[in-house]
Amino acid sequence: MPRRNTTHSDELFCKATSCLYFCSPGPVRQNRSQANLAQLVEHFIRNERVVGSSPIVGSSSPLKGEIFFMKLSYLAETLIGSEIVKLGGDIREKIRQGEKIYNFTVGDFDPAIFPIPKELEDGIIDAYRRHFTNYPAAEGNLDLRESIAGFLKEREGLVYTPEEILVASGGRPLIYSLFRTLIDKGDKVIYAVPSWNNNHYTHLNGGEHVVIEAAAENNFMPTAEAIRPHSKGATLICLCSPQNPTGTTISRKDLADICEMVLAENARRGPEEKKLYLLYDQMYWQLTYGDIQHYDPVSLYPAMREYTIFVDAISKAFAATGVRVGWSFGPAAIINKMKAILTHVGAWAPMAEQKATAGYLLQKENIDQYLHHFRAAVSERLQKIHEGFVQLKKEGFRVDVLAPEAAIYLTIKIDLTGKRTKEGKLLAEQAEVTSYLLNEAKLAVVPFSAFGASKNSPWYRLSVGTCRIQDIEEMIKKLREAMEKLNG
Ligand SMILES: Cc1ncc(COP(=O)(O)O)c(C=O)c1O
Repeated sequence: MPRRNTTHSDELFCKATSCLYFCSPGPVRQNRSQANLAQLVEHFIRNERVVGSSPIVGSSSPLKGEIFFMKLSYLAETLIGSEIVKLGGDIREKIRQGEKIYNFTVGDFDPAIFPIPKELEDGIIDAYRRHFTNYPAAEGNLDLRESIAGFLKEREGLVYTPEEILVASGGRPLIYSLFRTLIDKGDKVIYAVPSWNNNHYTHLNGGEHVVIEAAAENNFMPTAEAIRPHSKGATLICLCSPQNPTGTTISRKDLADICEMVLAENARRGPEEKKLYLLYDQMYWQLTYGDIQHYDPVSLYPAMREYTIFVDAISKAFAATGVRVGWSFGPAAIINKMKAILTHVGAWAPMAEQKATAGYLLQKENIDQYLHHFRAAVSERLQKIHEGFVQLKKEGFRVDVLAPEAAIYLTIKIDLTGKRTKEGKLLAEQAEVTSYLLNEAKLAVVPFSAFGASKNSPWYRLSVGTCRIQDIEEMIKKLREAMEKLNG
């Protein structure tokens, strides 16, 4: 983005508009003359033609203290692309150059290891053969919404009618449309970090970020205590359990406390006030291990039904990230608005995939069987890597690990800042530790900073979606060797 030094006219312009971007009469050019700029400022003062409200020169702006001249929209110019996708690019380049990388970064599955259910695959092919290739219903086909309603009732004990369910092409468009439905510019969105993409959705929708640093002591889950001071006037709390990136779940008590707080806050608000809503992202809820149980706000407190919007999909539970079928359920008034927004985005799940999913969700035994094997295979990988890290910790290395609970993720700590490589290079920052791991141990994991945590957080997400069992031992060995080479 072009930048230049502040001039008197620029300052005047800033003062006059409190923002430096506008859609009309067109973008400010870098080479605009002083006189021209002053004229423009006057024009704006006279006409009060200020478009947009996010100050570019402001304390909370990512562009703090600098003046920018926009060639594209403010949103486009300030959007941060997915950090994980960027990291993935660096890794792919190394692999392309022939390096063997233990790539545990992607929140996706290798279909050769974790294929989608056979019956779902057959159903998709069959649906195309039967020419289900036209537009689906905007809210999702009725047969699919009926199947989802039955699935929710049977597996979670949640009773929702098809009118309270919205289908889209995976979880993302549903989250986006929920934000569009609830969030006006400047509305407070409360979310904990590390968490998956809440920072980006809040930015995309001009919300005010209220960020809570979650701690390892609480499995990186937020608590009501941490949220409560911010709840007054807030519009949305984002919760995800089981959580990406931590692979941990919210406890019954923590979730109950948050529900009580939401109910109390809403009881306090007047009828004309916007309510405080809860986005409950449960994309991974069928992937829990051992004694771990999944809880949801509405089963705990039926009164939460009015304020809770669930996000779910086949993406993770059936290793079907590329199939693109997701659903939201919640109060019909909100679901209807989300649907209206999505009609303009067109992010529907494809017709054939909807038909196949509608049929598959009715196949109780096949689903049970699939989940039984799938959970066992994911859990085995998580357990093995967990054991490896526990062993490394025992050996005195500065690593740690949380017990795996759910999803396809393991939370690991690799705390090597302050150490020196054998060439004498100081690993001063966590980013240098991440590079060292990639270059020396050939281990690629995603730092929690990519999920909004502080830049120097020593915690990482390790995903097993593409992990081959036979690679685990060697990966741990290489990590040990890389750490042994460090001094200090
Ligand atoms: C917690 C969480 N929610 C939503 C999504 C989006 O899922 P989808 O691929 O169905 O859009 C993801 C994907 O990684 C996720 O981890």
